[in-house]
Amino acid sequence: MNSLYSELPRLQAELAGQAPRAILKTALSCHDAIAISFSGAEDVVLIDMACKIHPEGVRVFTLDTGRLHPDTYRFLQTVRERYPIRLDIMTPQHEPLERLVAEKGLFSFYQDGHQECCAIRKVEPLRRKLSTLSGWITGQRKDQNTTRAHVAEVELDTAFSTPDHPLLKFNPLANWSASQVWDYIRAFDIPYNPLHSAGYVSIGCEPCTRPVLPHQHEREGRWWWETADKKECGLHVGNAVPSGDAPINPATRG
Ligand code: ADX
Ligand code: SF4
Repeated sequence: MNSLYSELPRLQAELAGQAPRAILKTALSCHDAIAISFSGAEDVVLIDMACKIHPEGVRVFTLDTGRLHPDTYRFLQTVRERYPIRLDIMTPQHEPLERLVAEKGLFSFYQDGHQECCAIRKVEPLRRKLSTLSGWITGQRKDQNTTRAHVAEVELDTAFSTPDHPLLKFNPLANWSASQVWDYIRAFDIPYNPLHSAGYVSIGCEPCTRPVLPHQHEREGRWWWETADKKECGLHVGNAVPSGDAPINPATRG
């Protein structure tokens, strides 16, 4: 068990209510094997802040599901060229993926929910990456969804830790609102995913993401055929609220 894990209660007390930079600084200074999990959206602020703290060698990974928007792929490349980061691009294992699409086609998530496809395209590659790390850094915010209202600045990742491999999860943006994130992006002239200019707020895979209208909640654009308590894909499974609700018909897509 690593020493940082045993220091978790002290770290939690120290980081409670802190600003993103302070949380990131602690995360990067405590850990050698730590990486930022970058979705290709407004969580780019984490990369910008981290590179200002440690100008060289910040580790970043992204989960390339194979179903991202073309704009997101281009944005990932823009970020890779702009910042002195090591960007690892994780891809799904081909055997379970080929089996899924052979049996159920390319859009099974509209019929039987997103969990099966996300498990293959996102969660398994994430598990593989996390097995090489002792901590990871995410862009989760409390204001993103009801399932995230209690996201802590630092927590034990109960979904991906094993008895031999405790894993810490840092959420530096936990206490920031979306408008604080966007103030930062504008103030420092940071590149952003062009989909944000087309009405997309929370951005995931192309078939499971749509733009939202003014004043609609950002998560309404993700897996819109499912209820709010289902809108976790397994990356942040510790946030999910159990429910017996069935998926709603995707024909309601606007
Ligand atoms: S999701 O679970 O619903 O897809 P969301 O898009 O809100 O997550 O992003 C929250 C955080 O999860 C991101 O800031 C990032 O740290 C991580 N994340 C989400 N999608 C990816 C991805 N494709 N690759 C790497 N990290 C991701
Ligand atoms: Fe599959 Fe949609 Fe999940 Fe992407 S978000 S992995 S396309 S179900």
